[in-house]
Amino acid sequence: MPKTDPDADFDGYLAACRTRCQAVLLPSLDAGHGELRVPAGLLDASRYPFENTGKLVRPVLCYAAAEAVAGDIPPGADHLAAALEIIHTYSLIHDDLPAMDDDDLRRGRPSLHRAFDEATAILVGDGLQARAFELLARAPDISENSRVAAISTLAGAAGLAGMVGGQFVDISAVGETMDLEALREMHLCKTGALIRASVALGGIAAGATEQQLARLDAYGRDIGLAFQVVDDILDVTGDTQTLGKTQGKDALADKPTYVTLLGLDGARAEARQLMESGLAQLAPFAANARRLEQLARYIVHRDR
Ligand code: IPE
Ligand code: IPE
Ligand code: MG
Ligand code: MG
Ligand code: MG
Repeated sequence: MPKTDPDADFDGYLAACRTRCQAVLLPSLDAGHGELRVPAGLLDASRYPFENTGKLVRPVLCYAAAEAVAGDIPPGADHLAAALEIIHTYSLIHDDLPAMDDDDLRRGRPSLHRAFDEATAILVGDGLQARAFELLARAPDISENSRVAAISTLAGAAGLAGMVGGQFVDISAVGETMDLEALREMHLCKTGALIRASVALGGIAAGATEQQLARLDAYGRDIGLAFQVVDDILDVTGDTQTLGKTQGKDALADKPTYVTLLGLDGARAEARQLMESGLAQLAPFAANARRLEQLARYIVHRDR
């Protein structure tokens, strides 16, 4: 039997999923409505954050969750994956604004408000958020019930009791002390909610049963939290070049993080424990969950 390298195989999977998502995402940016077009300057600014792409973890999680349920990736998953990455990218654009984290570097380039200006960055974020829901509303190859479930799940994850809520608590927490339970809740909202929704949308695209959705949700909750724990760790241990964003910003801004509360070793142990707990949810999917397993390990062991 020919020998296969499991890491090379996973790298190839990541690359294929990213290409597939971008093929729907990039052309979707310039869609007009009837006689109305996206103004040229705004279109340039809207394309900018996708030119130097991020890891596209959320789309890949969506594809992998669909695969766990259906054994392969249904075509209906593509628009959902693209919508997830668009919402996430809007959240980063606003996260970097001077009124928020005031970050000059994102995905290895000047953040959007530095490359353009603040008003443009706010407007691109607003426009991307609406565009994501437009993609879901027009997604082909999924049932009407699945479409509504996807819209409702993503809206909940992105909104006041999800990412935006978590970002509010994060900004309010500058210079404050926070106990572990409060920090956990904040991370579950600001980053966990969208990762959890990514896994859920994959399940929805594949027509998962309630039982399967519950398993996926428990996995998504654990690895979504683990994702931000690792982001906190990398802010301390990573380097700016590899991260593509400024290292050391959390300490500079005096933010409570998993590292300030638990120390580096404690935070690493927490991330590993969350990974194990997430992996344990995958048993009923058997071999179809192979990609979700690899993704859980990737999220915890990544260096950017
Ligand atoms: C960074 O997200 C912000 C968080 C929610 C922790 P990613 O690490 O997924 O950033 P990109 O998309 O790869 O740039
Ligand atoms: C951001 O968390 C979470 C979002 C909802 C965008 P961070 O502020 O820690 O993300 P980075 O480190 O700037 O990417
Ligand atoms: Mg932030
Ligand atoms: Mg930030
Ligand atoms: Mg961070």
